[in-house]
Amino acid sequence: MKDPVAPVAHAVEIRDLHKRFGRLEVLRGIDFAVDPGQVVCVIGPSGSGKSTLLRCVNLLEQPTSGRVVLEGVELTDPDVDIDAARRRVGMVFQQFNLFPHMTALQNVMIAQRRVLRRRASEAERIAREHLAKVGVLEKASFYPAQLSGGQQQRVAIARALAMSPALMLFDEPTSALDPELVGDVLTVMRKLAEEGMTMLVVTHEMAFARDVADRVVFMDGGVIVEDGPPDQVIGSPRHERTRSFLRRVLDPTHTDV
Ligand SMILES: Nc1ncnc2c1ncn2[C@@H]1O[C@H](COP(=O)(O)OP(=O)(O)OP(=O)(O)O)[C@@H](O)[C@H]1O
Ligand SMILES: [Mg+2]
Repeated sequence: MKDPVAPVAHAVEIRDLHKRFGRLEVLRGIDFAVDPGQVVCVIGPSGSGKSTLLRCVNLLEQPTSGRVVLEGVELTDPDVDIDAARRRVGMVFQQFNLFPHMTALQNVMIAQRRVLRRRASEAERIAREHLAKVGVLEKASFYPAQLSGGQQQRVAIARALAMSPALMLFDEPTSALDPELVGDVLTVMRKLAEEGMTMLVVTHEMAFARDVADRVVFMDGGVIVEDGPPDQVIGSPRHERTRSFLRRVLDPTHTDV
């Protein structure tokens, strides 16, 4: 619910964010914000800086300049408790990054134990709750190698959720999956969105972006070219760069986006 008088703090606010790797400027002044409960999908060609943007939001990468403000806390302030701030952000990657020598249950418990210092019984209860939520509770004692890609990705989502994040970042969470497994993961993400989770999602799944996103951001060459409701950005894009990208992703004969 938005209070019409008091401004609602952004879940995350990004101001004039720049990131360079040596001479390559990958982010060239990014400005946008995600409000609590919003789902923002980021689309754009390969190399446009989408992953780098997400990695700057949880400080896996140090921005070259600009500000990243998470729930009112400026991450780029040298005095801030980065570990505490980072704990507020869950991240799900294209490659699921589960620990191979741990069961699904152990994977969902480990950071709760080590980082949040939850008691084993509490961490296990919360892990089971989230494994059930993503539909893989019956696989709790399985190792990642014994799970399908879709099941592994749902365990990775449960692991992030178990840390009670304020914001979830997804970086092409379905791109490494066989087509028949994509739907299960998107269903879980849709449910999360309906429950009011704040989500920033890099994806090529245009149907998901259209149905679920409050806003779609199109990036190209390290800048935001368009930012607006999905019906506008995907349905009637204003810029030729957006149109030409969408033609390529929506045309099944092109895969090299
Ligand atoms: N650690 C790094 N060192 C040097 N260059 C990097 C590094 N990480 C990313 N880059 C470069 O930054 C640019 C943007 O990369 P990024 O991964 O953010 O793109 P992307 O939009 O996520 O692409 P994709 O759709 O292929 O995942 C690329 O040219 C990439 O080579
Ligand atoms: Mg990427």
